Amino acid sequence: MDTHKKLVLGIFGFGVVGEGLYKVLHQTPSLNATIKKVCIKHPNKKRDAPADLFTVNKEILLNDNEINIIVELIDDADAAYEIVKTAFANGKSVVSANKKMIAEHLPELLELSQEAEKSFLYEAACCASIPVIRNLEEYYDNDLLHSINAVVNGSTNYILTKMFEEKLSFKDALIQAQQLGFAESNPTLDVEGFDALNKWTFLLTHSYGILPKKEEIVFTGIQNITSEDALQADKKDCVTKLVASAKKLKNGKVAAFVLPQFVKKDDPLAFVKDEYNGVVIESSFADKQFFYGKGAGSFPTASAVLSDISALRYDYKYEYKKLYHQQQNELTNDFYVRTYVAFTDWGHVRKDDFESIEEWHSNDRSNYLIGIIHFEKLRESDWWKKNGVSLILIADPIIESLDVAKLKKRSLELAGVAGKYSLS
Ligand SMILES: NC(=O)c1ccc[n+]([C@@H]2O[C@H](COP(=O)([O-])OP(=O)(O)OC[C@H]3O[C@@H](n4cnc5c(N)ncnc54)[C@H](OP(=O)(O)O)[C@@H]3O)[C@@H](O)[C@H]2O)c1
Repeated sequence: MDTHKKLVLGIFGFGVVGEGLYKVLHQTPSLNATIKKVCIKHPNKKRDAPADLFTVNKEILLNDNEINIIVELIDDADAAYEIVKTAFANGKSVVSANKKMIAEHLPELLELSQEAEKSFLYEAACCASIPVIRNLEEYYDNDLLHSINAVVNGSTNYILTKMFEEKLSFKDALIQAQQLGFAESNPTLDVEGFDALNKWTFLLTHSYGILPKKEEIVFTGIQNITSEDALQADKKDCVTKLVASAKKLKNGKVAAFVLPQFVKKDDPLAFVKDEYNGVVIESSFADKQFFYGKGAGSFPTASAVLSDISALRYDYKYEYKKLYHQQQNELTNDFYVRTYVAFTDWGHVRKDDFESIEEWHSNDRSNYLIGIIHFEKLRESDWWKKNGVSLILIADPIIESLDVAKLKKRSLELAGVAGKYSLS
């Protein structure tokens, strides 16, 4: 191992993460890394670094033979994709934090990095400061990994925390998150679950060796969650979190989704508050393990980028063992979930989709039901994403098979009341 290998960096982006990295690198002289050039977009912005470090010409970095690592930290996934492709073609290793680019192009980027025999590391792209990718790669064998449940989006977690603990409305909590810089001025990517979905696609690659397309994963965000849902969660001794979940079922296939969940107050994920992220991994013999830390922010994100750069001293590469060297896993939607659905109008809920409805409630403030639904029904419809409907899975939501006889009996018992509420 050549720990004295010279690391010459070409950095793209000098925003929240890029500038953070610049500062963090200056406090880590032992790394023996030098920044040769930084490529940015707007040349006239005032920057807290020498002017001759910067350029707007990406070719200067990409064609410089001395630069052996491209660190891609820009906020434009399409431009990033072009930069990263050229970097591999020009024989450079790449460190990136760009979850959107990775979610959209991982198979191709993997191929290109392998053809070039260069590393492609992106620990900062999921859960920022929490070293979850490298742990999944190195530590958790596929057969041993039962499930992984995670809070991977800090903005939505901040909003939910404020709704639950300070009883703020969704709108006020969002404004507060924006004022504190935890949510973008256009918060759609975070609030509607796209950011969490992006992260989950490649976390599934490192957890279970699956390279899913985004369209294959059922997801939503927290856009329809109300203060009333927060109250219901509390009554059930739960809090609501946007949880990215994956679980290996008894048939060997993997269930995966990103959906709001009622999480028991004694679950480690309930402890993940404000802009923090957390990951709970359950494996055969170790039981539950919990990773917790800052999922965004300048220095926390830069620290993961720094760790990737440091790993390049010994040419570290993700091996994707679960993808290439083990029996491939498959995603499945053939399971059931127990879910809470609140709605402003019974007409919004497709009751026939439910295998059973176990509970319902209706008064002038709220309507909700709790029922069991086959997951494929959620995948193929979108009534549950529409305005006025909030679907929140109940803690430990996956049911692998149903006792149909028992359900039938219970449905018959409930039929009278169902009629009263026009449930059937
Ligand atoms: N912020 C976080 O907490 C966080 C956490 C995890 C991952 N990430 C990811 O890290 C990346 C950077 O995020 P950020 O928050 O640092 O973004 P940011 O603060 O908006 O900064 C973006 C930087 O990219 C530069 N840029 C944009 N397009 C460019 C192009 N075509 N060529 C060269 N430079 C370009 C901008 O240049 P100018 O300065 O000239 O405008 C700016 O310096 C994103 O992929 C983000 O998803 C961020």
